Amino acid sequence: IPGKLAPTPPMGWSSWNKFDEHIDDATVRAMADAMVATGLRDAGYTYVNIDDGWQGKRDANGVLQPNAKFPDMKALTDYVHSKGLKIGIYSSQGPRTCAGYEGSYGHVQQDAQTFADWGFDYLKYDLCSGEWFYNDRDTVVRSYYEMGKALRDTGRDILFSLCEYGRFDVGEWGRDVGGELWRTTGDITDDFETMAKIGFDHNGKPSHAGPNGWNDPDMLEIGNGGMSAEEYRTHMTLWAMSAAPLMMGHDLRETSPEMLAILTNPRVIAIDQDARGVQGKAVRKQGTSEVWTKPLADGGVALALFNRSDAPVTMPVSLEGTGLAKVGKVENLWSGETSTSLPASVEVPAHGTVAFRVSR
Ligand code: DGJ
Repeated sequence: IPGKLAPTPPMGWSSWNKFDEHIDDATVRAMADAMVATGLRDAGYTYVNIDDGWQGKRDANGVLQPNAKFPDMKALTDYVHSKGLKIGIYSSQGPRTCAGYEGSYGHVQQDAQTFADWGFDYLKYDLCSGEWFYNDRDTVVRSYYEMGKALRDTGRDILFSLCEYGRFDVGEWGRDVGGELWRTTGDITDDFETMAKIGFDHNGKPSHAGPNGWNDPDMLEIGNGGMSAEEYRTHMTLWAMSAAPLMMGHDLRETSPEMLAILTNPRVIAIDQDARGVQGKAVRKQGTSEVWTKPLADGGVALALFNRSDAPVTMPVSLEGTGLAKVGKVENLWSGETSTSLPASVEVPAHGTVAFRVSR
């Protein structure tokens, strides 16, 4: 039974990339505050997600308790909701999570109910531990189906995020088990090589993606400091062209004006969030130059020219592969400049991107 909570790719923040298991109540509240203060909420970022590291032990009735870093989950979800935001939590179908915390094994319905009772709106379900008995497609699919059904049975709207790294052709069944997004690869790290490898080469089959079911090339690293602004613009453009979930992964309190401009660029966000929900793809690759297109709801296209090499390059620009016969209006997604025609060619910086919205 397909999900319904992500007509466009989900947007928000998750604790893992910056804080890993060192996440606590105060930090989650601070992220919600910063989401509002920076304008990120108003730019479209909605979810504040707690990843691994919140779990304590089960009580005598088997009800999972948070650890000492999270004194009162209901109070925390109330606080985040009071900011006009939604809040997510994390578990695993195994006895242990990736970071070694208590998993939902043997307690699937009970945990789904606990998450609903606490007021959570999103669950990331991460298959790390117990791989010795989750080592075939059928078992893995069933384990996700079981939690998907348990979430639905609570009656609360809880968005379901699948994390099993793209094994067993998850794109073929992620939607059927109620997943609104599913990871397509292992973890991103804050460097251009890893980001590019995932974003250009392992972003899942575009035919699997669409409203309420998205390929997830992992969370954003923008603002974590390991890449240049040019590289982070490529990261943001590539995720938007891929209709990828936009889950920030940095300390929101430390968002520089330059990073904020990247994360809140309304023209780029509009490409990611386009109602048609098509995952864009490369229509031309030549060495380290790639031209991507993404068809849009208004009949126009997004056209991105990516330079993966370490030196600037001049790339020709044309409508080839876009399906458009002629150009109405052209908007440069990063500069905001508009015109009535495409340039014949553009200079694309090393590891950089030039991108346009071309309207009919
Ligand atoms: C592996 C996932 O890929 C990460 O995003 C994160 O959720 C960790 N597990 C948590 O242990």
